[in-house]
Amino acid sequence: MNVDYSILETLIKESKNHCNEGKVASYIPELSKVPGDLLGITVHEVGKEPVSAGECMPKFTIQSISKVFTLLLALMDRGEKQVFDKVGMEPTGDMYNSLMKLEVVTPGKPFNPMINTGAITVTSFIDGDNVNHRFERILSFIQRISGDHSITYNEKVYRSEDQTAHRNRALAYLLKDNQILEGNVEEHLEVYFKQCSIETSCTNLARMGMILANNGKDPATSEQLIPKRYVQIAKTFMITCGMYNASGEFAIEAGIPAKSGVSGGILSVAPNMGIGVIGPALDYKGNSIAGIRLLTRLSQEWNLSIF
Ligand code: DON
Repeated sequence: MNVDYSILETLIKESKNHCNEGKVASYIPELSKVPGDLLGITVHEVGKEPVSAGECMPKFTIQSISKVFTLLLALMDRGEKQVFDKVGMEPTGDMYNSLMKLEVVTPGKPFNPMINTGAITVTSFIDGDNVNHRFERILSFIQRISGDHSITYNEKVYRSEDQTAHRNRALAYLLKDNQILEGNVEEHLEVYFKQCSIETSCTNLARMGMILANNGKDPATSEQLIPKRYVQIAKTFMITCGMYNASGEFAIEAGIPAKSGVSGGILSVAPNMGIGVIGPALDYKGNSIAGIRLLTRLSQEWNLSIF
């Protein structure tokens, strides 16, 4: 694919105008400390060097983008049957932290792995000898896919979320009551909050997306890091549920699998390339407002839609 990188800066400038229509997340107090008017992007084509434009914050927490990678690891640990016995495959049309459908739809199982209830359940499937080991396995999986072994987690963001996560606690205990979540709820939450606090960069996200675009294979070593079937499952969830209750609109406008996080990061998987975006100002659905705009414009310019 021959794409014109010189348009990146123009598209950033244009999309940045939308930053002031959004707000930086504040429900995790530590997240509110970043400037809302930043916008940066890295594009990583299979077999090429990554290209960045705009203002890529050196580090930001991965937040809900981690849900894609815990799903992949849980599938590798437990297989499809065990994971999807407890987590569904359907979009909700609800906010990412909603508990409504858990109450009103039998048998009380989360609709998909991209919303909080589904992601906390998926995290409970990550194997390990203890909480630390389970988290270490997630961290080293993300290090492997991003090719960056210096990646670690932000202790302050983790503590900040742990201390204020009343809603996630409510969701998790409801899942336990519904017999979806087994074992120690607080331990599962600790792993979940820590995975959300893993610090990545646009370059990291773009490489992770590039590996998914390449069906789980590292093009440099030809090593199959993730089975192709699981990558297919993850990309399908990204299209149908990755932008939560904005997924349908994003699929129509941009047409590429993507997953957002509340720190303003978005990981996208376009044909033959991964794209990492950071734009901390969010719309009311919790997605980067300028980031969505930037990816939509880029998809139009480069004709990236898979549909
Ligand atoms: O569960 C939470 O609240 C966060 N740690 C992750 C949520 C998130 O990133 C939602 N995304 N837009």
